Amino acid sequence: MSDNTGSNEPMESGDAVRKEQSPKRKVGTPAQGGRLLATDESEPAPQGAGAKLDEAAAKRAERVVAALFLLAALASVGFIAAYVWSGTQGPDGMHGIDDARASNYALGACMTVAMLAMAVGVTIWVRRLMTSKQIVQQRGELPSGEATRAEFEAAFMEGAEDSGITKRPLLRRTLLLAAAPLGLAPLVLLRDLGPLPEKRLRHTFWGEAVKQAKAQGKQGVRLVVDGTNRPLRVSDFATPGSMITVVPEGIDKSPHAMNEIAKAVTILINVPAEKFKPVKGRENWHVNGIVAYSKICTHVGCPAALYEQTTHHILCPCHQSTFDATDGAKVIFGPAARPLPQLPLSVDNEGYLIATGDFPEPVGPSFWERG
Ligand code: FES
Repeated sequence: MSDNTGSNEPMESGDAVRKEQSPKRKVGTPAQGGRLLATDESEPAPQGAGAKLDEAAAKRAERVVAALFLLAALASVGFIAAYVWSGTQGPDGMHGIDDARASNYALGACMTVAMLAMAVGVTIWVRRLMTSKQIVQQRGELPSGEATRAEFEAAFMEGAEDSGITKRPLLRRTLLLAAAPLGLAPLVLLRDLGPLPEKRLRHTFWGEAVKQAKAQGKQGVRLVVDGTNRPLRVSDFATPGSMITVVPEGIDKSPHAMNEIAKAVTILINVPAEKFKPVKGRENWHVNGIVAYSKICTHVGCPAALYEQTTHHILCPCHQSTFDATDGAKVIFGPAARPLPQLPLSVDNEGYLIATGDFPEPVGPSFWERG
């Protein structure tokens, strides 16, 4: 029995049935028109594996492909260099928004060039250095029969032979050269697993700011509105149900202001005094129902910034953890495992809201409870 691919090999009966029943898909490579680097568009591609190539044109194509692979190798090395360079910004190993943006551009540009050069190189290789032939592929059910597998193996070996990967060492070596740093690039990203944060996540700028304020004879550090840095009087925040985001005064002067704000950001809520239930031992941490909690969700750190005035619930939009503002920000719904840390509040001689200490436990996800 012979099939329509021209093969005269006997077929296994399962394969034969599948071939009878299944539709056929034709895969041609490459198309006859529009060949890359073609010098004469009317010239047909050499037909069939092993057909004679125009050696002069093939040599030219080979050099172009090799140049593209070299470009890909350089771009991949550039990716690694850009990553290392960006990681050295700042004494604490972190970098600001501008550095992060520049680093992202450099990484993206290098990876784009590397991928593009590889893709164009491989395309030219296939279209200019391999012969054109039509392949008829049978669609069948898995698993393939012995004959199909043998057919695939033969086609694969024929393709490998046709690609010239064994007889064109320049292409083989430049391809390997391009692939090696591209394969290494994801490995260098493992560097982002370090350095360890040590004690940096256990305290926020509130603690340092309160210490400095007390050293100057003050009772604590003022709360300022995030964005405008305006200090808040109790009378400015007298409407029950209000909520606003605050940070410690002076945080914008910190050398790592963005990082410090990310940890110290706090929500200030005016809970109606009759509803407010102070946590035992924290009876004096609020001012007439004005209470402050960390804005960083204790689940995985999203900003818990939605406040429902009627129920006094603080909602994290990421996974719907819900905290009760009237009851020490206890978790009443969702995946968060512990309440939002509370900031001890008071009021200074001039009527401004102040913090008298840092959050009593680390803010954000509970990494520290796991040792
Ligand atoms: S981060 Fe808030 S619920 Fe997941």
